[in-house]
Amino acid sequence: MDYQVVIPAAGSGKRMNAGKNKQFILLKGKPVIVHTLTVFEQDPACSGIILVINEKEKGDFLKLIELYHFKKVKQLVAGGAERQESVYNGLKACDSDIVLVHDGARPFIRQSHIRDLVLSAQEADAATIAVPVKDTIKKAENLQVVETIERSSLWLVQTPQAFRLSLILSAHEHAVKHQFAGTDDASLVEFMKHRVKIVYGDYTNIKLTTPDDLLFAKAIMESERG
Ligand code: CTP
Ligand code: MG
Repeated sequence: MDYQVVIPAAGSGKRMNAGKNKQFILLKGKPVIVHTLTVFEQDPACSGIILVINEKEKGDFLKLIELYHFKKVKQLVAGGAERQESVYNGLKACDSDIVLVHDGARPFIRQSHIRDLVLSAQEADAATIAVPVKDTIKKAENLQVVETIERSSLWLVQTPQAFRLSLILSAHEHAVKHQFAGTDDASLVEFMKHRVKIVYGDYTNIKLTTPDDLLFAKAIMESERG
């Protein structure tokens, strides 16, 4: 089934500390956002990309779209102060039944996982890619362990996340109304008491967040995936 994808890329990449938006960091000679856009450009089921950007960087993004001949980028939408606002702005430009939200800073997503995710969203209306937590997770206060959380039910949630458009739009509106801030879009759907399905992803689908992530990114690029 066809879908459109909202790609938030309007952040400033503070934790990456690269002196620029991390979307423009080069991996194998190409900006991160180019790797991300290429996955969706090449997916036959993707009918359109809504790229959410900082207006100040519009010219830089437009140049890349032209240089790499991205034909599916339908619209460049201005982002907001927080990711949640950026995604909401992007969603308002969508008109497909199923919509994906995928971070521009997550360039290693595989097409097979996108397919699984879309199928799941068709059934459940809301689904996210995730992987099981491998480490032991403890809750602490003032460097004092308070609790060890049972790992078997914990998942590391990634993007893409897929939703029926009407559901995710109302989840964003509901969140604004109740001043609920989530770090992902699925949590807004959960806040409306709607269930979200998990779809297995893989551990290489990292988000480039801090400088050490670039070490992993280079290794992934060098592997057979890159
Ligand atoms: N994002 C966005 N609009 C914002 C903030 C973030 O579109 N106001 C995007 C980022 O560009 C990124 C994705 O959301 O692709 C995930 O956010 P994050 O990893 O936090 O990126 P940044 O906000 O850029 O990084 P930092 O939090 O370290 O400043
Ligand atoms: Mg951020």
